[in-house]
Amino acid sequence: RPRVLSGIQPTSGSFHLGNYLGAVRQWVDLQKENDAFYMVVDLHAITVPQDPATLRQNTRISAAQLLGAGLDPEHCTLFVQSHVPEHAQLAWVMNCLTGFGEASRMTQFKDKSSRYGADSTTVGLFTYPILQIADILLYQADAVPVGEDQRQHVEITRDIAERFNSRYAPVFTIPKPYILKETAKIMDLQDPGIKMSKSASSPKGLVSLLDEAKVSAKKFKSAVTDTGTVVSYDEEQKPGVSNLLRIHSALSGQSVEQLVAHFEGKMYGALKTELAELFAEWVTPFQQRTGAFLDDPAELDRVLAIGAEKARAVASETLATVYDRIGFLPAA
Ligand code: TYM
Repeated sequence: RPRVLSGIQPTSGSFHLGNYLGAVRQWVDLQKENDAFYMVVDLHAITVPQDPATLRQNTRISAAQLLGAGLDPEHCTLFVQSHVPEHAQLAWVMNCLTGFGEASRMTQFKDKSSRYGADSTTVGLFTYPILQIADILLYQADAVPVGEDQRQHVEITRDIAERFNSRYAPVFTIPKPYILKETAKIMDLQDPGIKMSKSASSPKGLVSLLDEAKVSAKKFKSAVTDTGTVVSYDEEQKPGVSNLLRIHSALSGQSVEQLVAHFEGKMYGALKTELAELFAEWVTPFQQRTGAFLDDPAELDRVLAIGAEKARAVASETLATVYDRIGFLPAA
């Protein structure tokens, strides 16, 4: 079975709608027919300052949301990155294969470091994509389900895997990004020119999955739309309405064309109201399932312990092969 791997940061506690539609939903769909590994990337989280108690709690909340969204530990391996020490170990090797210039071209680093300023930007933030390379290659992943903003990180992973394979020995599978066009980039509800994100969106532009449904309903209803009144799909002229149509389509399963026909003769308000209802119908049971996992931390920890053990079995084998091929003396 093809192998898939992906990760999500625990930094915000609540996931947002972009995380779900851009990535997590695909994780759920892919778990049945693939050998799937999914993780909460706490090592990546500390590239920016984190309060220890909050980080620990957010890691649990993240795992609970993944289960609440439909990951099934019977069908996938769900784990916490720091439980598998091979990630940090392989990352060092990958640091030594990646050019400084190559790493400097990563746009996510440029965005984030410009926000923090040189003195509070850590070296960890700079090498963030290189840890991600290790995450992916450790599991010999064939496909990496992510949103559009992670494409560049999967591309550099392919480059470095090819470099290792040609310099030493053909050890690594070359991974492909798995990005669904329709949901690859969910936009901010207040500023449809930027993607929905915890760090850049205003509270009104960001739909948090753990907010009360009526809070999110308000955000959908006050979403910025475009001039005109006709509900039609046009990313250039009507980015706001187009974003709402794509979200509706993802949640309802109806195509954008069907929706445009459905809203003919109606105003933007009808689209917003329907979307708010649709979202509430999905998010309410999601929150109930997530809450149930949070109410049983012993069960949650048990799931994560099993996941870590399964992940380590694969990761340690890859790391041992890598250490051998690069010429490290085996520990007697
Ligand atoms: P993170 O935690 O920022 O986001 C998790 C996933 O959500 C997607 N996403 C979006 N998709 C569509 N529209 C949006 N507005 C939106 N915002 C976020 C992201 O593309 C991502 O798929 N570096 C990664 C985590 C990571 C990882 C990995 C991913 C670490 N190691 C290995 C894949 C494989 C990140 O920060 O995702």
